[in-house]
Amino acid sequence: MATGQTAGGSRRTTRWLDDRTRLAPVLAAMVHVRIPMTARTWYFGGIALFLFGIQVVTGTLLALYYKPTPEAAYESVQFITSDVSFGWLIRSVHHWAANLMILFVVLHLLRVFFQAAYKYPREVTWVVGCGLLLLTLGFGFTGYLLPWDQRAYWATVVGTEIAGGVPVIGDSLLLLLRGGSDVSGATMSRFFGIHVLVLPLALGGMLALHLVLVHQLGLANPKKPEPRVRTADNDDEPLRPFFPHYILDELVAWYILLAVLVVLASLYPATLEEPANILDAGHPKPEWYYLAVYEMLKFLPKDIGILAPIVGLGVVIVWPFLDRSPEVLARRRKVVVGGATLIVLALVFLTWRGYVA
Ligand code: HEM
Repeated sequence: MATGQTAGGSRRTTRWLDDRTRLAPVLAAMVHVRIPMTARTWYFGGIALFLFGIQVVTGTLLALYYKPTPEAAYESVQFITSDVSFGWLIRSVHHWAANLMILFVVLHLLRVFFQAAYKYPREVTWVVGCGLLLLTLGFGFTGYLLPWDQRAYWATVVGTEIAGGVPVIGDSLLLLLRGGSDVSGATMSRFFGIHVLVLPLALGGMLALHLVLVHQLGLANPKKPEPRVRTADNDDEPLRPFFPHYILDELVAWYILLAVLVVLASLYPATLEEPANILDAGHPKPEWYYLAVYEMLKFLPKDIGILAPIVGLGVVIVWPFLDRSPEVLARRRKVVVGGATLIVLALVFLTWRGYVA
């Protein structure tokens, strides 16, 4: 009797709410998705999504105490770390989640690439994904300056100098980024505004588009190319419900990651160097995800070293339009898979060299 009453009550509440929102069909469309049994996402995209959520929450909490001026930033970060309850934990989780987000976005890109999930009809999803990757890297670049310590200041000096070396637009780009000829309070205001307002809005909007596309197109089958025209005959692959089966697996991955984040943040909390000293450059080094480019600049002439990653990124963005073969199996895409593996290994090697240098 009690159970019947509860069920009746929840049905009434659902009807009341739907009467006032008309969202039931939208929710049903979101939930009643079926995905190919063969789809293997390794949860990388979902984990990147979860980490973005963590960044929004921890970043908002940090912004309650952070002061974005060269005079006050360093002390406000010190205050967060030593005086605010759990401030050190929030700051360290923000630090680790930022690094892991970049790692998982790259792993997600590689998963999509090696499974050929960028092919018809997912070319646009790929291009939007590339936009997400660039915005994620932008978060890292702008956030790095905010503590205004030695590492932050000099890495930004070097990073913006590299941007200044881009042929033709370099000088304007440098001025635009720094807000003047040097890294100063004007740079900090810009980076802070971009970090807490422009990038979250841009990434949030693009992410919504990315997920709507993934929802509309369904996940790719890594064993079979997508038929150009879907008919009952070619649409007979075994599927499994997204809800609750897939989403429960995904939630387990998020839960494990949350534990990993707290352990990393507790064992290796985010550090703070000496306050920025504009007279002593020390040994500036960018974050690990820029190290490969930084190393490349040591071997190649400056113009080529700066152009190579830009051209490389351009090729990655338009790759689905260059690789027109419908083949999805790795063993029948030996040249593409072999070439990409070599490039990935070279980038890992350069990153390692930069790290130990
Ligand atoms: C903030 C960054 C990103 C987030 C949060 C994100 C999120 C997701 C999620 C949740 C999925 C569903 C399947 C999965 O978990 O793998 C997905 C699919 C997809 N993503 Fe991303 N993504 C991001 C960046 C990228 C990048 C950098 C690319 C490639 C350049 C990309 C290309 C794709 C494609 C093509 C699919 C469809 C894959 C398939 O059908 O198997 N995404 N993304």
